[in-house]
Amino acid sequence: MSADVAVDGVSRRRIRARASAKVNLQLSVGARREDGYHPLATVFQAVDLYETLTAAVRPDDRITVTVEAADTFAGVLAGVPLDHTNLAWRAAQAVRTRFGITDGIDLAIVKGVPIAGGMAGGSADAAAALVACAEAWDCGATRADLMELAAQLGADVPFALMGHTAVGLGRGDELSPAMTRGEFHWVFALDRDGLSTPEVFAAFDRQVERRGRPPAPPQVSEVVMAALMSGDPTYLGAALTNDLQEAALTLAPRLYGVIEACEQADAAGVVVSGSGPTVAALARDRHHARDMAADLSSRNIADAVVTASGPATGAVVLEG
Ligand code: C5P
Repeated sequence: MSADVAVDGVSRRRIRARASAKVNLQLSVGARREDGYHPLATVFQAVDLYETLTAAVRPDDRITVTVEAADTFAGVLAGVPLDHTNLAWRAAQAVRTRFGITDGIDLAIVKGVPIAGGMAGGSADAAAALVACAEAWDCGATRADLMELAAQLGADVPFALMGHTAVGLGRGDELSPAMTRGEFHWVFALDRDGLSTPEVFAAFDRQVERRGRPPAPPQVSEVVMAALMSGDPTYLGAALTNDLQEAALTLAPRLYGVIEACEQADAAGVVVSGSGPTVAALARDRHHARDMAADLSSRNIADAVVTASGPATGAVVLEG
């Protein structure tokens, strides 16, 4: 689980962890609250695209972050901050403060989740950093302690810690596990030009204003829950919804073509993932996912196309 490695003649405890990307099967959004957040009724599913993070204890009190990309995302790291604004940095600092740790840590992230893609890659970094730092510093944190810190770091971080499939209420951070059957196979069409989550929510607010009536209080979709229980992708595909999709399309109209291409490839359902710009297409089975990915790649409508399956695990410490 852990390894002590010698660096410059000093033995340093080193832990590797990973956390997965998510897709929202339902994302219902209510009217903006006083604190700027929106009430949500969402169903998250973790999929097996991973952020991997290695945490190595430092003898001084510094926290450092380095980032490299897994192959699909090579060359798109420019926007990732390496300072105290990085969510993994903030996660390490949160563990340190909460447990009175004085040592520092080096965090090395390998990104396998698209950046600013609506798949919570930054939140996965934070979740992986929480479990890795807690283990590396051996601070005796419980899962409940880490969940509490996760909610302080961001609305999507608790789910990145928890994984699998879950209903999220409140800001999306009040979680309860959802019952599912089998595996679902996805194709994700990625876009290099990420969308900013606050900007997509702001575009949603402008739409609400134009309509002149507030959105209904969000509620969990019984159809999505039943589809998950059935394990039938046709049923789930027809039930996918995202209230942020229109806002994301306003900011990135190029996504209309991507959605159309997924429909032409006979996807069971297509939805913008979270705040976008990733487009998620649900396949009928694993083979269909592979065929659809090949079809979409050959059409050159996205910067990259990847397949992934869910539900996947949350943040875990890796062996060795
Ligand atoms: O919590 P997090 O920092 O990940 O949220 C990023 C931004 O997304 C928030 O500042 C807010 O603009 C928007 N957001 C929201 N309502 C939510 C979750 C996020 O408006 N429930």
